[in-house]
Amino acid sequence: VVDTRQIPHPPHRIPVLGDLLSVDPASPTQTMARHARTLGPIFETKFFGNRMVVVSGPDLYAELGDEKRFGKHVGFGIAAAREFLDDALFSAYTDEPNWSRAHNILMPAFTLPAMKNYHDTILDTVRELLAHWDRRLQSGPVDVHIDTSKLTLETIARIGFGYHFDPFTRGEPDPYAAAVMRTFAYVGRSAYRIPVDWLERLVHHRANAQMDADVAYIRRVVDEVIAARRASPEAAPDDLLALMLTTADPATGEHLDDANVRNQVITFLNAGHETTSGTLSFALYMLATHPEIAAQARAELHTLWPAGADPDPAFGEIHQLRFLRRVVDETLRLWPIAPGYFREPRRDTLLGGRYPLAAGQAVLALTLKVHRDPVWGADAESFDPDRFRPERARTRPPGLYKPFGTGVRSCIGRQLALHETVLALALILHRYDLVPEPGYTLEVAEEFTLKPANLRLGLVRR
Ligand code: HEM
Repeated sequence: VVDTRQIPHPPHRIPVLGDLLSVDPASPTQTMARHARTLGPIFETKFFGNRMVVVSGPDLYAELGDEKRFGKHVGFGIAAAREFLDDALFSAYTDEPNWSRAHNILMPAFTLPAMKNYHDTILDTVRELLAHWDRRLQSGPVDVHIDTSKLTLETIARIGFGYHFDPFTRGEPDPYAAAVMRTFAYVGRSAYRIPVDWLERLVHHRANAQMDADVAYIRRVVDEVIAARRASPEAAPDDLLALMLTTADPATGEHLDDANVRNQVITFLNAGHETTSGTLSFALYMLATHPEIAAQARAELHTLWPAGADPDPAFGEIHQLRFLRRVVDETLRLWPIAPGYFREPRRDTLLGGRYPLAAGQAVLALTLKVHRDPVWGADAESFDPDRFRPERARTRPPGLYKPFGTGVRSCIGRQLALHETVLALALILHRYDLVPEPGYTLEVAEEFTLKPANLRLGLVRR
């Protein structure tokens, strides 16, 4: 029997509901980060008897990265995602055959050199965003997150599956993107499900029905993409879908089946768009509210593409933008759009030599809090890209900067997200001055990932 007495929990725990009233379902990880200030480096929460241990002390957080003792926990929101994504990359258990099969087949498409294949497509979509913004320069501030989401969904759809939503030329919001956003919100809320089936169905009837309709719609769209590809394989571009339909796992010689390919496509469309757009939106907010940093980033851009010229960035040039890359790294430190990730002990263990954890226990590694720990300096709350200069980064303890998760289950799309974000920021900053709306204070919405709520920026053509 594991003794859990040493791990505190929020005050006001009540029968059945547990700590439900202590955690705001609209901003769960932000509430947990606040609880951590009073409860300390490790605490637990319970919702309807489901126990989650929340870790935000730097040493304990780094310890969770030990792959020999800990692995990914598939539970809470990920369990809900599993209902419609099954054993696709993000929602699979690591020991399921389809996880290693898909990982082996897809990894070569996500290396840094592989980004060269996607560079021109990303450039096209970013230019479409700029043309869209140019057309509406006289119409007041732009809603940043709506447009960054359109951009990143379009990018992953084109480079992944040769599919065009063409969001900047369509008048109305894209129904696929809207359905994806609702499924995110649903998954984000799923930790608060009522474990009594009939009561859950009664209370959340409308949300569950909407989710069923959204999943059916998303599947239909993706099935059509796959069917079209199967019908004319000779016209197939060299993309992720072609890779999944034609390549065997080099380790076993096995292929992914059609249902799994469908679930992988949906996973990439989901995981690949709302994450990158959140990062881009927060970075634009940071640059708009720190004009001196925007000026420094622009000075770097002008060494490659003088002011006034229209940049035509080559693949390799994006990697020369070291300062802009630090802007992105620092943005993901302060606002890790994946604010935490779940780990579980492989066997009963003591975390920090002291806190007992049973095998399989869900542990939330709370990146959002660790990224602002005093270990980052007395100015941990302030935006300073230069803290990622290599000479300063080397002075910090390892294992504390994890915006892309940890170990074998960390983000496969990291290089893609970084390449797209830096490229988009470069072109946006080169073209426009970013003007914050007077009186706007940053509010961060949580729907599984974080994003700035209602962020609007004025754009002035340079
Ligand atoms: C996994 C963050 C962009 C696809 C993850 C995980 C994190 C993360 C924290 C680990 C989740 C866990 O441990 O449960 C991010 C961030 C991004 C980003 C911050 C952008 C800035 C992308 C993109 C793609 C992608 C662009 C695809 C094109 C995936 C997939 C997994 C994953 C498939 C599951 C990998 C596996 O378990 O094998 N991501 N992600 N992500 N991400 Fe990303």
